Amino acid sequence: MQNKIKAAITAVGMYVPDKVLDNKYFESIVDTNDEWIKTRTGISERRLMENGATSDMAVYAIEDMLKDKNFDRDEIDVIIVSTVTPDMFFPATACLVQEKIGANNAWGFDLSAACSGFLFALQTGASLIESGRYKKVIVVGSDKMSAITDYTDRNTCILFGDAASAVLLEPTEDDKYGIHDSILRVDGKGKEALYMKAGGSALPASHETVDNKLHYIYQDGKAVFKVAVKGMADVSVEIMEKNNLHSDEVAYLVPHQANLRIIDATAQRMGLSKDKVMINIDKYGNTTAATIPLCLTEYYRDGKLKKGDNLVLAAFGAGYTWGSMYLTWGMD
Ligand code: UT7
Repeated sequence: MQNKIKAAITAVGMYVPDKVLDNKYFESIVDTNDEWIKTRTGISERRLMENGATSDMAVYAIEDMLKDKNFDRDEIDVIIVSTVTPDMFFPATACLVQEKIGANNAWGFDLSAACSGFLFALQTGASLIESGRYKKVIVVGSDKMSAITDYTDRNTCILFGDAASAVLLEPTEDDKYGIHDSILRVDGKGKEALYMKAGGSALPASHETVDNKLHYIYQDGKAVFKVAVKGMADVSVEIMEKNNLHSDEVAYLVPHQANLRIIDATAQRMGLSKDKVMINIDKYGNTTAATIPLCLTEYYRDGKLKKGDNLVLAAFGAGYTWGSMYLTWGMD
């Protein structure tokens, strides 16, 4: 009997724009302060993409990922772009990325699952590898959140940042490594707690929607916080139990970075100490689809993430969408 094909991450890359917006900057534009932002969210800084779009950031992250890889770009089978800030409604950002990186034989698509987008895209990419039909799948989370942020709204503008990060998925020869399992969920009851009110087919763009600032992120922070803190912890514990994974065997929780308090609560429920949690919210804020791969890239390049490390990835976002994933890191 043939062994089941498993998918593993075999390369990582990232892009963050140079321009830094620190908490002091926000003190100068809205009624807020450094102390409130740090204690309520854990954020000190975030990045701003001044020139360029989501596809450009995705391309920079992919180029960073491929710089040490010696294969022909014609070998890339699929490009999945997770984003809530596509360059435009259509064509898909994946098409723009395909052309810019010269992946002549690839197909691809955008995946919209907000802050859980990378997790959903990674599972989708892994399933394509597991099918046996595809050998090289790029999954990139890229979000230019500044394009949909109202910089007069203190409830949301301090939270988000721009960034992109990519991973390459390939079949693994050693099935100790790679993506073992995931638990993914959606619940449309959350649809009005975190969303962009206008611009879609329900409420197309008009002078009125622009005047009423309906093309920006709207969030009922308190409502989302309550479900996020439970949702993210529940699925993280569930995936450990399902796979008989004890907290001693988990090298890192790799959580979506929306709020340090949500992350801390999840780690606590999993029985993990703070040193076993990947964090970048302090430097980049909430970069939506990019938070998790950014963590993986930076911790790997810093030598803190090693071959054989068991990881639990977890996210919660608009929709609602949420989920967890269990994988073993296979890169030397
Ligand atoms: O990423 C996808 C999913 N999203 C999340 O997981 C985000 C979940 N929610 C959160 O992280 C938090 O709810 C926030 C960080 C968004 C807000 O923190 P909070 O502790 O829930 O604050 P709050 O919304 O309950 O507001 C508390 C107070 C309010 O004032 P009053 O009504 O008590 O007088 C707000 O107006 O803080 C005020 N406030 C601020 N004050 C200073 C809200 N934003 C700010 C601000 N600076 N930037």
